Amino acid sequence: MTPVHRATAALLREWMLEAGLDAHIDAIGNVVGRWRSARPGAKTLLTGSHYDTVIDAGRYDGRLGILLPIVAVQQLRLAGVALPFSVEIIGFSDEEGVRFQTAFLGSSAVAGSFDAAHLDRRDAAGISLRDALIAANHDPDAIPALARDAAQLLGYLEVHIEQGPVLLTEDRALGVVSAINGCVRHRVAISGEAGHAGTVPMDLRHDAAAAAAEIILLVEQRCAQVPGLVGTVGQLGVPNGAVNVIPGACELSLDIRAPSDAVRDAAAADILAGSARIAARRGVALRIDPLLKVPATPCALNLQARIAASIGRVTGSAEARHLPSGAGHDAMQIAGLTEVGMLFVRCGHGGISHHPAETLSAEDVELATAAFMDFLQQFPIPDAADNQARSDP
Ligand code: GLV
Ligand code: MN
Ligand code: MN
Repeated sequence: MTPVHRATAALLREWMLEAGLDAHIDAIGNVVGRWRSARPGAKTLLTGSHYDTVIDAGRYDGRLGILLPIVAVQQLRLAGVALPFSVEIIGFSDEEGVRFQTAFLGSSAVAGSFDAAHLDRRDAAGISLRDALIAANHDPDAIPALARDAAQLLGYLEVHIEQGPVLLTEDRALGVVSAINGCVRHRVAISGEAGHAGTVPMDLRHDAAAAAAEIILLVEQRCAQVPGLVGTVGQLGVPNGAVNVIPGACELSLDIRAPSDAVRDAAAADILAGSARIAARRGVALRIDPLLKVPATPCALNLQARIAASIGRVTGSAEARHLPSGAGHDAMQIAGLTEVGMLFVRCGHGGISHHPAETLSAEDVELATAAFMDFLQQFPIPDAADNQARSDP
């Protein structure tokens, strides 16, 4: 709901309209474009990704999964194709959770799992999500009604840049996501004792930042023990710190992910217990607020097979690469609503992402678009009898 965010939503809506879709911006800021099937009782295939970004992000994380389907649908329409199901492309308003320290605000609304308590979250300037929405002419009370009816859906396909080096290393343009790693996030606030940097002897200090430093090293050491387990302290701050003051407070973020929820939870438990021991030894207090917990999300086997078949048809390669996603995606929320599948597109520059150097090639996107169009055209026509029953008044 910043000016740039809202301008992006407006532009996406324009592009959806130009592609011939019905398009609107919903109560949480999702940009929704629908290509309605003329077939009576037609169900809907969902696709999309997020249009928000981390600060100083790459160009493609999220946006690729909105723009590519718009182009694909436009091409199919121009070619006179009429699908037996409707296609809904959603540009999710918030997946990264930068402003309100949460995540998946857009996709959770569509999945029917939006937590209304998030409306009271405040940004760094003290503005609540509720007030930010109202100031942008959105109605927070309308968010629950955004939940889709699972019975009307055929599934969800998300296209996303890989954000890692696997496809690049193996010289493949496209891949099929097998599962998305689970994630847990906490905010840790450490309270020590501020004091004069020149007068307090080292053994009498309760330095909150020094405790944070030990906690960061514990995260690194614990998460290095298990392949696939990763832990990151991406935010670290000394509020009101000064060069000549012992840090009396320190805040840090904690993000722990693994392909298995049990591995991730065991690491989180060890890190939180170890942090408590570090705090006790140093005479500082800890406050730990859970921010997010999303389970590892398997992608539906039948969608994986269909994506693999489409990749095979457009690339000519016999065997598609299946790989897990270390990054989180809107598909994790939509999985609570309907079956999900993901198509990964090769990332250039060594696989770097969440960084302005993130890149991909036009040739790979061309192939991904062809695979997406093939996927839509090969998608099975929903059972006619079932369809007839649904269209009866
Ligand atoms: C989203 O980009 C995440 O994986 O944090
Ligand atoms: Mn991202
Ligand atoms: Mn993303």
